Amino acid sequence: MKLWDKGGQVDAQIEKFTVGLDRELDHQLAKYDVLGSIAHITMLESIDLLEKEEWLLLREELRRIFHQIECNEFVIEEGIEDVHSQVELLLTQRLGDLGKKIHSGRSRNDQVLVDLKLYFRDTIRDLVGDIQALFSSLLVQAEKHKEVLIPGYTHLQVAMPSSFGLWFGAYAESLIDDVISLQSAYKMSNQNPLGSAAGYGSSFPLNRTMTTKLLHFDSMNYNVVYAQMGRGKVEKNVAFGLANVAATLSKMAMDVCLYMSQNFDFLTLPDALTTGSSIMPHKKNPDVFELLRSHCNRMQGLPNQITLMMNNLPSGYFRDLQLIKEVILPAFEELKECIHIAQYAIDNLKIKDHIIEDPKYRLLFSVEEVNKLVLDGMPFRDAYKKVGIEIQNGNFDTDLNVNHTHEGSIGNLCLEQVKEKMNKVVLDFHFENLDKMKQELVGA
Ligand code: ARG
Repeated sequence: MKLWDKGGQVDAQIEKFTVGLDRELDHQLAKYDVLGSIAHITMLESIDLLEKEEWLLLREELRRIFHQIECNEFVIEEGIEDVHSQVELLLTQRLGDLGKKIHSGRSRNDQVLVDLKLYFRDTIRDLVGDIQALFSSLLVQAEKHKEVLIPGYTHLQVAMPSSFGLWFGAYAESLIDDVISLQSAYKMSNQNPLGSAAGYGSSFPLNRTMTTKLLHFDSMNYNVVYAQMGRGKVEKNVAFGLANVAATLSKMAMDVCLYMSQNFDFLTLPDALTTGSSIMPHKKNPDVFELLRSHCNRMQGLPNQITLMMNNLPSGYFRDLQLIKEVILPAFEELKECIHIAQYAIDNLKIKDHIIEDPKYRLLFSVEEVNKLVLDGMPFRDAYKKVGIEIQNGNFDTDLNVNHTHEGSIGNLCLEQVKEKMNKVVLDFHFENLDKMKQELVGA
């Protein structure tokens, strides 16, 4: 069944190629397609394109389909092109000619846009929940190990004292900025494209303000041409959000691999979380962090992939855009899995103690010694020179105490403030609107 069937034959090979993975991927959009449809028919009734009775029958049937989807009983049948066709087919099978009325004033082009935007709102919400859980684990570890000093590096050369409190806390705070970038993608998604139809609007007096309210969008993409231009652009910005989270995780994974090497020896994983070698009997490898790094490095290519796919497209719909779903939809699951495993491994990291007592780290304290002289009244440059010469002559001496008190330093991690910052960003999403929308459109 083709929505555009006019009696002619479609070449089977062409059909297979053009449908591609749509039946599989659109399955993930099904719930959102139904929610968009309920908003659309409610609006059609308000402008007299549907009778009240017709609207109620359609809504009941759409709610039934929604329920089927939630119970995993919805399939896009063999020979059906996409989710949009499947939903219309079900309505027509169950309600006859009434089902055929639903598509007035819309196109699959604005339908898929709505589906994607509603999907992104939900999946970003889900992802932010997982990020918050990892964030909490990092803060717990930061607090627990705040007294454990480690070398800080610049150029991968021993630089100044750092701590596991700082190290864990740094990745926690990095996640806040990643959530901010997801929030910008969320806000971009939170604008209603419905009513732009094929990309040029409709001669029906559509009430777009009404569908915007029904779907709890913050606003609409007013210009119908621009609404369609949002296809790909929204996905690219969502991909940037995902890539930012991935970048935080891959940097952290790289640090762990380095710190777990015998040459650093700052931390270990319990044996059960390591993997062995088929030839070297002594090996306990951090494969989990290596694969995390690889997944997350690959995911940082997502925005580029999407950029290339849309690079030379003029305005207006093109089938090219369909393929972007293959890039962006599976990425959510991949990233979620990475976040879960990262949290599990971070919760289980075993931190070594007395790390900086190794004499090879003594020069970490050179600036501490300079600063002591400055506090005693010596100008910084003179103190710097004095300590520098002591180091050159091999008579530098120091104790291993640090006294860092300013905000965000070893002795004052500001973990509460960091937590507060994350809470504020998350509240700014107003995720409660998603529950309201669902409640209003399909009940419970
Ligand atoms: N599967 C299509 C997509 O994802 C749906 C829109 C089809 N529109 C069209 N004009 N052929 O883009």
